[in-house]
Amino acid sequence: MIIAIDGPAASGKGTLARRLAAHYRLPHLDTGLLYRAVALTLLDADRDLADATAAADAARGLDVAFLGDPRLRDSAMGEAASIVSAQAAVRAALLDWQRRFAGAPGGAVLDGRDIGTVVCPDAAVKLFVTASAEERARRRHRELGERGETIPYDAVLADILRRDARDADRDAAPLRVAEDAVVLDTTALDADAAFQVATDVVEGRG
Ligand code: C5P
Repeated sequence: MIIAIDGPAASGKGTLARRLAAHYRLPHLDTGLLYRAVALTLLDADRDLADATAAADAARGLDVAFLGDPRLRDSAMGEAASIVSAQAAVRAALLDWQRRFAGAPGGAVLDGRDIGTVVCPDAAVKLFVTASAEERARRRHRELGERGETIPYDAVLADILRRDARDADRDAAPLRVAEDAVVLDTTALDADAAFQVATDVVEGRG
């Protein structure tokens, strides 16, 4: 069983994906980390994020051991990832690896922006997790504060709106709701309630 979870930044999709993976004992891949790792590779090498050749090379040579690097979680890396992820060659270089992960016996949970539309179009379950931009900014602001990153709320909201626009407006695998996805708006739902709705969908009750 492949569970594909897509949605904009800070929508709660990562938390939901982790919980579903633990509940159904499936491996989980946060695909945003792949794009964050490509961005960090370029920044570490002092390369321009818009350098398409360097970005594609970094994506092709990506070492998955790198996915645990705590720097990947920094807010600046989300922004940098959204710049490199708009490049079609970067996306193409990461596609096979994601599909192999999804092909694990028994299935997998993947979350990102294009899982239900591009990476796993035949996934058994597709969820599109969203929430208002203000609520997502509140959550991200709180989460960054807990990690010691003190960024004003307005700056977090501006970052989220900029990323939404870039992810939705790009030509390569733009963020959009797959035709057969169930939309889960978590604006007024806590993590437990969102998990409950998601398991209902997975088990055919939703
Ligand atoms: O989900 P996360 O915030 O870690 O993603 C960082 C960026 O990586 C996103 O803003 C998006 O541009 C890109 N991304 C993507 N496709 C995915 C996952 C993430 O384009 N499947």
